[in-house]
Amino acid sequence: MEYKLRLNSLDDTVKLAELIAEKVFPGMIIGLTGDLGSGKTTFTKYFSRYIGVKDNLNSPTFTILKIYSGNYDLYHMDVYRLEDIGYDYELEEFIYGSGISVIEWYEYIKSMLPNEILSITFTVIDENQRDVVVKGEGKYEKIVKAISDRYSN
Ligand SMILES: Nc1ncnc2c1ncn2[C@@H]1O[C@H](COP(=O)(O)OP(=O)(O)O)[C@@H](O)[C@H]1O
Ligand SMILES: [Mg+2]
Repeated sequence: MEYKLRLNSLDDTVKLAELIAEKVFPGMIIGLTGDLGSGKTTFTKYFSRYIGVKDNLNSPTFTILKIYSGNYDLYHMDVYRLEDIGYDYELEEFIYGSGISVIEWYEYIKSMLPNEILSITFTVIDENQRDVVVKGEGKYEKIVKAISDRYSN
């Protein structure tokens, strides 16, 4: 199932992060994609707060993986630098572990990921507006459904 919505402001992005965080479960995997500056890290920052992470989350670009702890462990990855390699087997123990993985540029390591993930694609409309497509099958489908229920009239 997939659902497309328009985020008109940063506050809408914060609310989307909160809604998804309400549905969090051990081993959850969220894949984010969209151009630089489209909001992947910003989404992750607010998501992290809603799952109880107290440390300030920032961009992991130069480290690939940063680990935070809150109500769950959070593995924040930015795999942009794996574009030409497509895998990093050291990430597997995290992705398939019981913490929550949020992966920026997830499509670059698609071969390492299970088929079922929640994917969010961000497109910049203007300075504060973003279009978002949320997609998920199997155990992620009900999350997409909850989002569509919240935003449809
Ligand atoms: N609706 C919105 N959602 C997310 N970010 C927004 C929004 N409007 C403006 N922004 C700004 O866009 C930038 C997004 O940057 P960032 O999250 O680092 O992007 P990415 O990780 O995709 O490269 C931030 O400066 C953020 O404040
Ligand atoms: Mg980023």
